[in-house]
Amino acid sequence: MNKIILDCDPGMDDSLAIIMAAKSKDLDLLAVTAVNGNYPVDITTKNALKTLELIGRTDIPVARGMAKPLFRSAPKDPFTHGADGQAEMNLPEPVTQADPRHAADLIIDLVRKYPHEVTLVCTAPMSNIAMAFMKDPGIIPLVREVIAISGMFGFSEYAFANATGDTPLSEWNVYVDPEAARMVYHSGVKLTAIGLDAATHFDTDFSANDLEAFRTSELSEAKFLSNAISFSHGRGFEAYCAVIDGVAVAYAIDRSVVDTVEGHVDIEIKDGLTLGMTVMDRRHHFVWKQLPVIAVGYHTDSSKFLGIVKKLVLE
Ligand code: BDR
Ligand code: CA
Repeated sequence: MNKIILDCDPGMDDSLAIIMAAKSKDLDLLAVTAVNGNYPVDITTKNALKTLELIGRTDIPVARGMAKPLFRSAPKDPFTHGADGQAEMNLPEPVTQADPRHAADLIIDLVRKYPHEVTLVCTAPMSNIAMAFMKDPGIIPLVREVIAISGMFGFSEYAFANATGDTPLSEWNVYVDPEAARMVYHSGVKLTAIGLDAATHFDTDFSANDLEAFRTSELSEAKFLSNAISFSHGRGFEAYCAVIDGVAVAYAIDRSVVDTVEGHVDIEIKDGLTLGMTVMDRRHHFVWKQLPVIAVGYHTDSSKFLGIVKKLVLE
């Protein structure tokens, strides 16, 4: 079982990612760390606790992390995940408490406890991970790898048309805290960025039978997903909005879910039109070799991905 920490900002698709990570027999979910992103950190922490209570996994610690980006104020998510941040599922208030440690400290403690074993799956702005790396840079070579929902790299026209950040060429998680993302991209950690090219795909959709199976299942996690998909549809968005962050967890389970390519990448941190843009140098000549090399997701095997989601919410 691969040890992971899920760093997230639930968010309906982050909540699905928590459910998938907690239920997967291939993953050992050591902790969930919450950060400011889709909602303020008090709400994302509470939603992480609610989600784990929903599936009876209160043994997994949840830690509250950064309340704002490293150097900027927190923008408001233009795509609302509903009044409660969970597609208005209105789950009961949690009875469990967050771990007393700051998320960055919990990340440091767990990476030091299990050197070279822990994968950080990040489905949110990278403020917690950057803070952990700044507080204790010695953990960077001890992290097995980082898998993140992060950026968009020009592989898909569809991704550009559905960009989630506030600037035209940015993805939300990078846009919210571009300095944190840039720090992690430059840290030397093994990083796979699964951006909108791979995570917002028009063929990531469920059949009518699947939707009926979620709706009628006895399992609360299936009902949660059913509600999140209906919520997205009701707001004029496609079903993929309810499952974006699940792609990172599915990739942690099965590397054949997302095709990746290595390349030189950097992030625009100057204010203005292109703030938060992730730029991959894909030229044959004159490549900027000084930029960090990371793996970038460019295609998701949707049927494989949806198969993993279905198995994890219905069984
Ligand atoms: C990201 O933005 C958030 O709203 C989602 O949870 C996902 O992590 C996609 O850009
Ligand atoms: Ca998220």
